[in-house]
Amino acid sequence: MRSLITADSLDIPSETYDAIVVGSGAAGLYCAIVLKNLGLKVCVLSKSLVHEGSTFLAQGGIASALPPDDSTDLHFSDTVRAGAGLVDRKMARVLVEEGVKRVVDLIRLGVKFDKDDRGFIRFTKEAAHSVARIAHCKDRTGEEIEKALIDSYSGEIREFAFVKELLVKDGRCYGVLAEVSGELKVYYAPAVVIATGGAAGLFEKTTNPPTSTGDGISIALRYGAKLKDLEFVQFHPTAFCDEKECFLISEAVRGEGAVIVDRHGRRFMGDYHHLWELAPRDVVTRAIETQRKLSGGDIYLDFRPIERRGIDVYERFPTICKNLKEKGLDPKRDLIPITPVAHYYIGGIAVDSFGRTSLRGLYAVGEASCTGVHGANRLASNSLLECVVFGNRTAYGVYADWEYLSRKFTEVRVKLEEWKPRNEHRYVLDDVKGILWSKVGIVRTADSLTKAIDKLLSIVLSSSDWEVRNGAVLGLAMAVSAMRREESRGGHFRSDFPYEREEFKRHSEFTLEDLERLLF
Ligand code: FAD
Ligand code: SIN
Repeated sequence: MRSLITADSLDIPSETYDAIVVGSGAAGLYCAIVLKNLGLKVCVLSKSLVHEGSTFLAQGGIASALPPDDSTDLHFSDTVRAGAGLVDRKMARVLVEEGVKRVVDLIRLGVKFDKDDRGFIRFTKEAAHSVARIAHCKDRTGEEIEKALIDSYSGEIREFAFVKELLVKDGRCYGVLAEVSGELKVYYAPAVVIATGGAAGLFEKTTNPPTSTGDGISIALRYGAKLKDLEFVQFHPTAFCDEKECFLISEAVRGEGAVIVDRHGRRFMGDYHHLWELAPRDVVTRAIETQRKLSGGDIYLDFRPIERRGIDVYERFPTICKNLKEKGLDPKRDLIPITPVAHYYIGGIAVDSFGRTSLRGLYAVGEASCTGVHGANRLASNSLLECVVFGNRTAYGVYADWEYLSRKFTEVRVKLEEWKPRNEHRYVLDDVKGILWSKVGIVRTADSLTKAIDKLLSIVLSSSDWEVRNGAVLGLAMAVSAMRREESRGGHFRSDFPYEREEFKRHSEFTLEDLERLLF
């Protein structure tokens, strides 16, 4: 099924850089800016328009221990508690200590966080944070960060450059193969950084943009990089969904005082957790699903307590209010129907604290990577922070490895992997999304996962469409990882194993050998 073809034998135009960064969200751009400042010739490849990705959509803000009543110890302990026993403590230390400096760097790069009357940053609160430590730009923090990073990056950038394969030989990555405006092109580089974002867009109901289909994670797996913690998906409790689309209603809305009620107008979160609406996301998500069944109707977000605190919701949450208005809803007056949807991919490409993957020459950062800082459940607003902290460190990792990378690079003769389907069948990406949502979603069982694995396996084996096959490969790896974890922890809930089990208090791995055992 897998056959190797030599890139040299293909008549494909090529370009050579010191480093290729795949993805132009916060992680990729931050890394590219630092690589450029370190003197490397960098090119950023992005499969869509430069700003299109999860970063641009981020609402709530970015966490850090900058407020006067906070400390890095407190931010660290909140992060560890949220992660349900699986946070990598060394990485989380790096996140909170360096996070403070990186948020200040964002200010230096031009991000204008909201301020109070005296000119101090106005921090807000989100679930499971013990103090208000989220810096924000109203409800469009991601857009402001993305714009500042785009303006600060002076290297090469290629839009609509869709990376499809890695160039790998003897466990070493030498570049990528991309489709650029319909034409194949090879980008050679001693260092390749995968910053392609997460995979929550592979679920039917999601807050994520269409770019978040886990491409980089799936490609890295196919070329031998180790993946980690693939079973952990974070479902966000408060999205608005109709037949056409879903969009996020930020947790910061609850942080500012909004409450969740059932169809009888009863505020029920206290039945499930002492932190009420600001309980960890997985708790709120399952509480909503349970209460929907118990009360026999929709669950709503009530914005009106925010107004009673003297905050103008239109002023504080302009994007969310505009989106709701377009659906005929007025948050000052109406209860807003909410539903939990897939939001963030905790698993990803296993990396060390400088972004190095298990494949030499290949680095990963941002949501595509798994640093271990989120454990089994991410603390809200820690992901933009992870992008910039580890974006910076990954650039330093490349620079530190540069002598080795550039010396060995002269020996390159690359090979491309090609995957031939056994029998062609017309699947579409929506097939994968439907399976993941219904069988690998908020509540999983051995039965639902077995069905998912069977279906995804047949899609992988018979699809010739690149995107569908890639999504199905990652979905399959996700379902198998979820099957192996016979417990419930953080974002992974098994109704047939509803409790944490001590013997599963460890990270999981998924490798190319695991995939090949399933396929051959
Ligand atoms: P992205 O920003 O998703 O960028 C990925 C890039 O990779 C894109 O440029 C994409 O085009 C490119 N790409 C993908 N595949 C390919 C390919 N094959 N070839 C070439 N390019 C490719 N986190 C917080 O901390 N605070 C928040 O308030 C917050 N709010 C959120 C709100 C929403 C609606 C969503 C969806 C997420 C939110 N998150 C938030 C999570 C956070 O935004 C993301 O984790 C983070 O932005 C990911 O950044 P990234 O750079 O890793 O990926
Ligand atoms: C939100 O604004 O609720 C999203 C924050 C996050 O995902 O970190």
